[in-house]
Amino acid sequence: MFNSFFRSSRIERDLSFLGVDMHSHLLPGLDDGAATIEESLHYFGLMKELGYRKCILTPHIFNGVHNNTPSSIIQVLERMKQELVLAEIDIEIEAAAEYMVDEHFMELLSDDQPLLTIGKNNVLIEMSYAAPSPFIERAIFELNIKGYKPILAHPERYGYYYNHFAQYERLLEMGCVFQCNLLSLSGYYGLPVKKIALKMIKSNFFKLIGTDLHHHNHVDAIKAFTITKEFYDLANQIPLMNNTL
Ligand SMILES: [Fe+2]
Repeated sequence: MFNSFFRSSRIERDLSFLGVDMHSHLLPGLDDGAATIEESLHYFGLMKELGYRKCILTPHIFNGVHNNTPSSIIQVLERMKQELVLAEIDIEIEAAAEYMVDEHFMELLSDDQPLLTIGKNNVLIEMSYAAPSPFIERAIFELNIKGYKPILAHPERYGYYYNHFAQYERLLEMGCVFQCNLLSLSGYYGLPVKKIALKMIKSNFFKLIGTDLHHHNHVDAIKAFTITKEFYDLANQIPLMNNTL
């Protein structure tokens, strides 16, 4: 009986309702994501198969760890566009970045350096998983002042906020948009992450789902989770703006 229930709860995979993935590490050789052009092409083929029409690629900009700049990222983006044409993979790609909120990021802001954006003015930011950034509120404030819209990547993965749920509300009130990792909903990062993500869905905190795709383990887990009814039920509860990007 359990087996037949399990089978019947499996459904056909189709992520076309998301349309746009706005968080991944699929540009080759820039960070801890795809390493080679061949690997990137393989992932773009998979994204197309999953149902996405556009990938907005977000290499880490993390001083001392991933020293990317807008020009280094755009250069690789342009090369990848050519490679996609040659490989006849019909998927749109754009590039932004995932900025670590650290001293270097605050310098970029205070020096008025142009930032890579998702769409017209959205800037994807992240913090360490170990401790909150001492600059997070100032960064959100300054981004807003400068006409950017901050998107906080995977807030459900910041365990130091679990007992400070009001801090999430504060960042939202400051004008931050929250992006949930698709795999957080599956339990891939552990049950505490899934639990808080479900609570955040109930609280209407998220407006975006991103794959945050780095490597093949993520692909396997995404494929497994997106044939479950649970994924679509959860995603349907989020007022998604992926398709507007
Ligand atoms: Fe990421």
